[in-house]
Amino acid sequence: MKNIALVGFMGTGKSTIAALLAKKLQLGYVDLDGKIEEKEGMRIVDIFSQKGEPYFRKVEKDIVAEISLNEGKIIACGGGVVLDEENVKNLKKSGFMICLEAAPEVILKRTKNYKYRPLLNVADPKLKIDELLKKRKPYYAKADYTVDTSGLNTREVAALILSWLEGKT
Ligand code: S3P
Repeated sequence: MKNIALVGFMGTGKSTIAALLAKKLQLGYVDLDGKIEEKEGMRIVDIFSQKGEPYFRKVEKDIVAEISLNEGKIIACGGGVVLDEENVKNLKKSGFMICLEAAPEVILKRTKNYKYRPLLNVADPKLKIDELLKKRKPYYAKADYTVDTSGLNTREVAALILSWLEGKT
């Protein structure tokens, strides 16, 4: 079985859905942000503040390339992974790229109580969410399949993905 890479904005449920899909499909689960933290021995917020975003993106890119050498994994990607063309190529070469989306208000609600996302640790997170969503729209549109998770629970999102996959395999 090919990989299934979940992409999409912060707070769209990628990690939760990826873990659920891995369980249902009995495949391995990879959390890209977790891999980055493991490799660097630092939390993402600290990588951003001490080493900078370009450094983070470089580590992210190396790990995407490494993961994409193999198949059979459900990969929860960080929200910015699609910004790099080579990441998209690698993820699509080894599997399906599925995008989870959600309305900006839903994203705000789901992310506002957490401080581990450096890009949203700003005075006006809603403005930042709107700006980033607008900028990233064409990148997320590269996905093979997209699910709007706004009004759905995790089981419903997983069911949509599973039925889409059935038509592909
Ligand atoms: C980022 C999303 C984060 C993490 C980093 C940058 C982004 O992952 O990779 O903070 O650029 O959207 P999640 O989407 O899992 O929060």
